[in-house]
Amino acid sequence: MNNLQANQERSSLHGQWSSRMTFILAVTGSAIGLGNIWKFPYIAGDNGGGAFVLIYLICIFIIGFPIMVSEIMIGRKGRRNPITSMKILGQEEQGKANWKWVGMIGLSAGFIILSYYSVIAGWTLHYFKMSIFGELSNLDNESAQAIFGQLTDSAVTQLIYHTAFMAITVAIIAKGIKDGLERAVKLMMPGLLFILIILLFYSVFQGDFMAGVNFLLVPDFSKITSQSVLAAMGQAFFTLSLGMGCIVMYGAYLPKNESIIGTTTTIIFCDTLIALLAGLVIFPIVFQFGLKPTDGPGLIFLTLPLAFNEITGGYVFSGLFFILLAFAAITSALSLLEPSVAWMIENKNYTRGKSALIIGALIWLLGFLSIFSFNILSEFTFWKGTLFDNFDYLASNILLPVSGLLFTIFAGWIMKTENSTDELSDVSRYVYNLWRFGARYIAPVGVILVFLNAIGLI
Ligand code: TRP
Repeated sequence: MNNLQANQERSSLHGQWSSRMTFILAVTGSAIGLGNIWKFPYIAGDNGGGAFVLIYLICIFIIGFPIMVSEIMIGRKGRRNPITSMKILGQEEQGKANWKWVGMIGLSAGFIILSYYSVIAGWTLHYFKMSIFGELSNLDNESAQAIFGQLTDSAVTQLIYHTAFMAITVAIIAKGIKDGLERAVKLMMPGLLFILIILLFYSVFQGDFMAGVNFLLVPDFSKITSQSVLAAMGQAFFTLSLGMGCIVMYGAYLPKNESIIGTTTTIIFCDTLIALLAGLVIFPIVFQFGLKPTDGPGLIFLTLPLAFNEITGGYVFSGLFFILLAFAAITSALSLLEPSVAWMIENKNYTRGKSALIIGALIWLLGFLSIFSFNILSEFTFWKGTLFDNFDYLASNILLPVSGLLFTIFAGWIMKTENSTDELSDVSRYVYNLWRFGARYIAPVGVILVFLNAIGLI
């Protein structure tokens, strides 16, 4: 198995996507999630807006793009979970199995991310429930803050929804990806886009739209610090699901004849569009209601209910919005869980159900720490803040870029030219060289410069 000749294809142990469309949907489903709608606005708000957004966009295109292509390539060539794929390919291309460590860093990042991701997804479930029970009506700035405060103060409420969200994620992964996932994504993504557009109309006509646009799109470079550049890069990795190996994993199920560059372009376009739309919806509302862009992880939960409140039939849209957001979070959560589960199936010979349950339970437990960060442990701070802050910082700003860097170095430098050419055989030599330049020089140098800058060396 490990001594495959170049160009001879290995097959995946867990089946393949049924079409190019499903792959695009699944990766888009992984990419679009809380990262776009919950995290992007609050991180942009915390880091001063426009200049941050500009750096974020640059990171997406010059770092994110080549890395996503590299990850899909590695997955499709390795056809295994990220750890095993890196081990097999490392042996084939360089005689070194140590590349498996890259997969391990990625998987541990996924573990940490899912533990708090599920807590926030739980918040959206709670807001869904409150919307349909009419508990979000007649809000003003203060009552919106009070409702959000009640949620974060209550470990029990958060625990219930965190448990529900993890249970759903584990149940879907246990059943295998095809049926549930593919169908869900097809319905939800357009639905989410539809409600965002309705909200955009609201923001344009009723919100302080120009203040929002100014904040989000007009760069004020005096607000940029080395930490915000790092945050922008971390957010680019997070939103594109890079560095963790989930794109490697999904690439492992991609049929050989599909275009990697073509699919990557579509995915990145959709993901960026949704994030910018979310920002254009949220900031006009922030300014109209006198909230602060720096309100942190609660930002969408403070702003959006206020807007829905003022739209006729708002509670219907509000309910729909939060449930669709929960769905978007589920498709992302699946991609965070799948690589570790596939690893366990392939290495421990457990069934899919058992593997999903074991790993799901561990992540669920770790999630308690994030829940407590908002209440009983809120005073317990070190390094970057609460436990939740530290988990997010460590995973997004350090682990994802480090393993993303190594994935792209592997695809750009270690993989033989004939193998990478073979994976990208559908595009012209010029496009291939462009990718290769990005993967060899631009993305690695970019990531390293941002790191050096963040630790104060340059
Ligand atoms: N990209 C998803 C979002 O924006 C979250 C996500 C899914 C993720 N898989 C990932 C983040 C892998 C980092 C790594 O919500």
